[in-house]
Amino acid sequence: MTQTSHDRLLIIDFGSQVTQLIARRLRELNVYCEIHPYQNVTARFLSDFKPKAVIFSGGPASVLDQASPRPPAEVFDLGVPILGICYGQQVMMHMLGGTVQRGEGTAEFGRAYVTPAQERIDLLYGWFEAEREQVWMSHGDHVSAIAPGFAVYGTSPNAPFAVTADLDRSFFAVQFHPEVHHTPNGAKLYENFVRLAGFDGDWTMGAYREEAIRKIREQVGDAKVICGLSGGVDSSVAAVLIHEAIGDQLTCVFVDHGLLRQGEAEEVVTMFRDHYNMPLIHADEQELFLSALEGESDPETKRKTIGRLFIDVFQKHASEVGGASFLAQGTLYPDVIESVSFSGGPSVTIKSHHNVGGLPEKMGLKLVEPLRELFKDEVRELGRELGLPPSFIGRHPFPGPGLAIRCPGEITREKLDILRKADAVYIDQIRRHGLYDEIWQAFVAILPVRTVGVMGDGRTYDFACALRAVTSVDGMTADYYPFSHEFLGETATRIINEVKGINRVTYDITSKPPGTIEWE
Ligand code: XMP
Repeated sequence: MTQTSHDRLLIIDFGSQVTQLIARRLRELNVYCEIHPYQNVTARFLSDFKPKAVIFSGGPASVLDQASPRPPAEVFDLGVPILGICYGQQVMMHMLGGTVQRGEGTAEFGRAYVTPAQERIDLLYGWFEAEREQVWMSHGDHVSAIAPGFAVYGTSPNAPFAVTADLDRSFFAVQFHPEVHHTPNGAKLYENFVRLAGFDGDWTMGAYREEAIRKIREQVGDAKVICGLSGGVDSSVAAVLIHEAIGDQLTCVFVDHGLLRQGEAEEVVTMFRDHYNMPLIHADEQELFLSALEGESDPETKRKTIGRLFIDVFQKHASEVGGASFLAQGTLYPDVIESVSFSGGPSVTIKSHHNVGGLPEKMGLKLVEPLRELFKDEVRELGRELGLPPSFIGRHPFPGPGLAIRCPGEITREKLDILRKADAVYIDQIRRHGLYDEIWQAFVAILPVRTVGVMGDGRTYDFACALRAVTSVDGMTADYYPFSHEFLGETATRIINEVKGINRVTYDITSKPPGTIEWE
């Protein structure tokens, strides 16, 4: 639980795939909220948290099963508004004296239309301008009798209790998911809910910045902090924020593993050392990384080698700072939400992600994580608030292992040089066509294959490369970007003409899943 002076809304998570979207909708309304898994929410937790309102998320369980997830009964005695969504509605009805039935023949998935009851309630203010509202349903069980004190305020063909409420107690319960995109007016429902709960929307970035600075000063005192700077948005925003709070008590360590893009190292050093005047250690460790990777073509071994060396190098340079007791990290909110796992089993490792987890214990450091409460787009907003240039804030994500995972097979310096040049031309093309901000991530991968070509009157035998560009909201799923044929043709011509060593260009049109964004 985070200490904050803002009014807080508590989201009790019952394991829905879209619980984070509820938090998004609320943050957009400048309401501070936290998601906590139902197992952690005890009566004691509630009295410490002091929510001004509570939302029960959806979830995959059935309230009819033994040991199904429940909130503590005390939540209904807090005297604050509660909104139950889908499973949240069913659990509310079940605990307050209504009836839920198994969904044989009445399960409903996908688009549905809700029509209003005679009496319109404030929760639905702005709804039903078109007489019926599109909503998104995803439920097996359904409520068959509402709890005493509740009345029905909206119905859909398969959900006679689509919208229910006990107005005296300000308990609301809906069968559909107002947080998803396919409930087009869902944001209004959240807006109405937080308004009637009395939130005044004081969660602004300006306020957040002030509060974060105060908290960093309190936590750190006059101790020294080191921060691993990658040049990515998260670590950059964290560094600038912490620097604003504690000045030169912060030293940043930027590890150049030789797998960066063209001009990247200079850009980071210029920005942070010269522009922000931050103490910055530029660890040029290209030789170390590249020689360790020589001859290695297995993707997992490559990732693990880079991860291991990164930690060693970081540790070596960080200890030069002397006497640091904190490590700053750009951890975001989606990384810290404890997700509710019903399967209980470990998920399969698709790729070993590069991170410095374990480092704080090894070095005896405490963590400073000033972005722990923020989503990615909020970090960007904070970056703007802190005056970071738009070109930095809008940057596409770049993976920790860098170009290594865009160079399938063995990595050589020659291939890395070619890749850097091709990538620079490709990104330049994207920028020239004004497409950079529409794309989540774009890059070139150099393929471990040479192909025959003809240039001028001569034969060439050079590398093939693949262009990758995807749209995504969170990197978890992605689709390829639909460039025009003209764009692709022009880009291929430029790369082949301008980059010696490449004589064939392909475009990767794989979505994720089944592909991944990176090639390794
Ligand atoms: P994949 O390739 O798994 O990538 O679809 C999803 C997103 O994660 C980035 N990525 C990484 N980021 N360390 C990182 O910091 C890593 O080891 C790593 N591997 C992939 C990738 O660039 C994409 O944005």
